[in-house]
Amino acid sequence: MPFELSTTVPWGRNLNEYRAMFNLRDEDLNKRIVSVGDGPASFNAEMTQLRKNVVSIDPIYKFSTAELRQRIMETKDVVIEQTKNNLQKFVWTKIKTIEELATIRLAAMNHFLEDFEKGKRAFRYVDHEMPARTAFGNASFDLGLSSHFLLLYSQLGLDFHLATLTEMLRICNQVRIFPILNLNAEQSELVADLIKHLESDFIIEIVNVDYEFQKNGNQMLQLTHK
Ligand SMILES: C[S@@+](CC[C@H](N)C(=O)[O-])C[C@H]1O[C@@H](n2cnc3c(N)ncnc32)[C@H](O)[C@@H]1O
Repeated sequence: MPFELSTTVPWGRNLNEYRAMFNLRDEDLNKRIVSVGDGPASFNAEMTQLRKNVVSIDPIYKFSTAELRQRIMETKDVVIEQTKNNLQKFVWTKIKTIEELATIRLAAMNHFLEDFEKGKRAFRYVDHEMPARTAFGNASFDLGLSSHFLLLYSQLGLDFHLATLTEMLRICNQVRIFPILNLNAEQSELVADLIKHLESDFIIEIVNVDYEFQKNGNQMLQLTHK
């Protein structure tokens, strides 16, 4: 099925949030990083400004800046309205109000939009739909990240997750996934299955992190080659 922009809801986080979600220390920022399902996050743009190395992978990168901007503008009010209707499902300590949430997310997505064409030409934004094999060689990256893509979209199923993780672990020495909750804010039913399938080849850890916006969403899954 072709990837349609009209069915996606672009929503992007920033570097500070990525640092907290993935326990990224200063030394981690110097690693070769690939971020899968990176969407309109400003992580790549901000990291590039710091002269760090990030490649973002997402099928939305086939669209133009104008198309992505239009889709972001079409959907932002819907997402904010949905969040407003579910205030009790979130933790309002770091981000204090719905208005602050909208400001932070729009700032991140605008930063992404400003960087997008330049980054595409530099092959920092790669149009690619997982779980298809990427063009990257084995162990091209030290670290692979998935923020609000794997596990959250648990309806993609075990086979999709196994195939995507197998490809990510082919090109990365370590993979970190945040959060480990599904869209119902419960620990994804896939976590136990993935551990069962992958624990003979990888060290798998559930790590507490200093980020919690979705209630109880303060853990990441970390997989490292043995
Ligand atoms: C909720 S957004 C998260 C964006 C960003 N990682 C963040 O946390 O701010 C999920 C992203 O996953 C992407 N996605 C969906 N299916 C994908 C696939 N098969 N392969 C790669 N990315 C995919 C979507 O296009 C979307 O940009």
